[in-house]
Amino acid sequence: MASVRPEKPETVREWDRLAIEEYGIPGIVLMENAGAGAAAIISRLSHEDPERYAPPFVILCGPGNNGGDGYVVARHLFNSGFPVEVYLPFNPGVQEEESDAGINLAVIRKMGITVETPGPGELGRILQQKGTCTIIDGLLGTGLSRPLQDPYLAWVGATAESGQAVIALDIPSGLDAGSGEILGRCAAADHTITFAAPKTGLCQGSGPDFTGRLHVVKIGIPQNIRENQEKHQG
Ligand SMILES: NC(=O)c1ccc[n+]([C@@H]2O[C@H](COP(=O)([O-])OP(=O)(O)OC[C@H]3O[C@@H](n4cnc5c(N)ncnc54)[C@H](OP(=O)(O)O)[C@@H]3O)[C@@H](O)[C@H]2O)c1
Repeated sequence: MASVRPEKPETVREWDRLAIEEYGIPGIVLMENAGAGAAAIISRLSHEDPERYAPPFVILCGPGNNGGDGYVVARHLFNSGFPVEVYLPFNPGVQEEESDAGINLAVIRKMGITVETPGPGELGRILQQKGTCTIIDGLLGTGLSRPLQDPYLAWVGATAESGQAVIALDIPSGLDAGSGEILGRCAAADHTITFAAPKTGLCQGSGPDFTGRLHVVKIGIPQNIRENQEKHQG
């Protein structure tokens, strides 16, 4: 289900819950659809404008499902022949190995994709030393619950100051998905690839200044869920 109508993040999270719990679609299938759809768009952008959206793809993955989407994107771009590098601002040992994100992290490690965990201040140096690249922001999505602190604050700052193309997954990290308020810092994206429906925060407050061009990817949520919701809203 793709919708251009902005929805509250809690509404989309409820769609996810119902898809998983009521319809039996495993969360990892939704994650696969999200990441595969995003990778297809990123691949197209890179072919259409190879100077701006140049590989390598530097994929920043946070500790939740937004990071999980990033691992799936990494796998699909790698399979398409693009060089990819994955950077984590947290100790992956902390991530539940059985979680959807943890499973996808284990897969890309087995594939030999570079996964590194540099310290808070090191990402800026890494990005400066790199020539042109494209940053994929999978740090924090709708689960952002408080103002950024290091290492996230430093990583978002390094992204903002890098001058590289930035493509955000679901929502630029640091942007409140509901209100569009910046919680500490946010790096303006050239493109935001959002899942199931645009979140209200992309379209109000500071959202429009940080979202760039918006793409909506269907992730396989049953249409019935949306129709039932609209019926109840009258
Ligand atoms: N079913 C699916 O797989 C599916 C479907 C659709 C979309 N998605 C993706 O999943 C995302 C939502 O995933 P999610 O609920 O796991 O949330 P998330 O956006 O990935 O972030 C949640 C993680 O970030 C941490 N966090 C929140 N605010 C923070 C801050 N200011 N500084 C540092 N860490 C912070 C949380 O820690 P605490 O617990 O300590 O707060 C938690 O570990 C969506 O945006 C979308 O990208 C997944």
